[in-house]
Amino acid sequence: MILGIETSCDETAAAVVTDAGHVLASIVSSQADLHARYGGVVPEVASRRHLDLVAPVVREALDSAGTSLDGLGRIAVTRGPGLVGALLVGVSAAKAIAWAQRLPLVPVDHLEGHVASLYLEPDPLEPPFLCLLASGGHTLLLAVRERGASERLGTTLDDAAGEAFDKGARLLGLGYPGGAEIDRIARAGDSGAFPFPVARVPGLDFSFSGLKTALLYRVRELGEEEVERRRADLAASYQRAIVRALSQRLDEAASATGLERVAVVGGVAANSALRAALPGVRFAPLALCTDNAAMIASAARYVEALPYPGYLGLDAYASLS
Ligand code: KG4
Ligand code: ZN
Repeated sequence: MILGIETSCDETAAAVVTDAGHVLASIVSSQADLHARYGGVVPEVASRRHLDLVAPVVREALDSAGTSLDGLGRIAVTRGPGLVGALLVGVSAAKAIAWAQRLPLVPVDHLEGHVASLYLEPDPLEPPFLCLLASGGHTLLLAVRERGASERLGTTLDDAAGEAFDKGARLLGLGYPGGAEIDRIARAGDSGAFPFPVARVPGLDFSFSGLKTALLYRVRELGEEEVERRRADLAASYQRAIVRALSQRLDEAASATGLERVAVVGGVAANSALRAALPGVRFAPLALCTDNAAMIASAARYVEALPYPGYLGLDAYASLS
């Protein structure tokens, strides 16, 4: 059994996953409420909260998997990218547990983790496939040739797709994080009400900053009362522009690579309009779209473990390598 620990942003998460990919427990403690009043994640606040939560969350994962530290074969932890102070809490906790138990430690890249959410039972996906990773921090198109190995085909030139949702939500006076809120409110709206642009950038890259600016101008033009009245239409139209940008690129990338199977992972993969727009596409299980530790433990199955005790100097990294 693998214990996974994830603390890269504002979710403190721990999971127990078997070598065969069965999730025995996956506990996620979100700090979203704590950060909501600031309109975004405050790194120092996140680190302190991870410190409070990491031990109880690990304990809960072990309890709910019906095991103890003695039942574990290795410890997996997110090493980056993310908020470095937040990451260090998870990395330190993982080192301490691994060292005390004389177990190997597996450092996992958060983005590989999102992809590995597709490899879990009961319905694991086999490479090769084209993968869109759309989260709050990243928007990547990957050609996944084998588990643990992918080639980067495109990325965002400015905001990530999830960031575009969050910033749009903020402009519409919705809470943080805004993706799920836009998703919810858009259901009552007309997605054709406002024609928002879909940026065309060369190659297989993405750009969302122009869309965000278009919404900003539209919100200013309409004025507070009208925005209030047409919030659902604005949310639905804005969401449609993001969904279009993502699905167009996926189509183009599928043609360019000849990869027949297509998958979407990351927080934005939870979006109901995106799921509806891409019927033939494989989506990460809903519970494993946003940050969690089951995906980290899953990814650890395809990463070489650092044997005891050679990992005490292991460091976290903040940005995409
Ligand atoms: O993967 P994730 O939990 O964290 C990062 O690694 O960044 O993704 C979080 C992002 C946020 O931007 C959030 O607004 C977005 O995923 N998100 C959604 C939905 N649920 C979460 N975006 C659109 N629709 C959703 N239902
Ligand atoms: Zn993530």
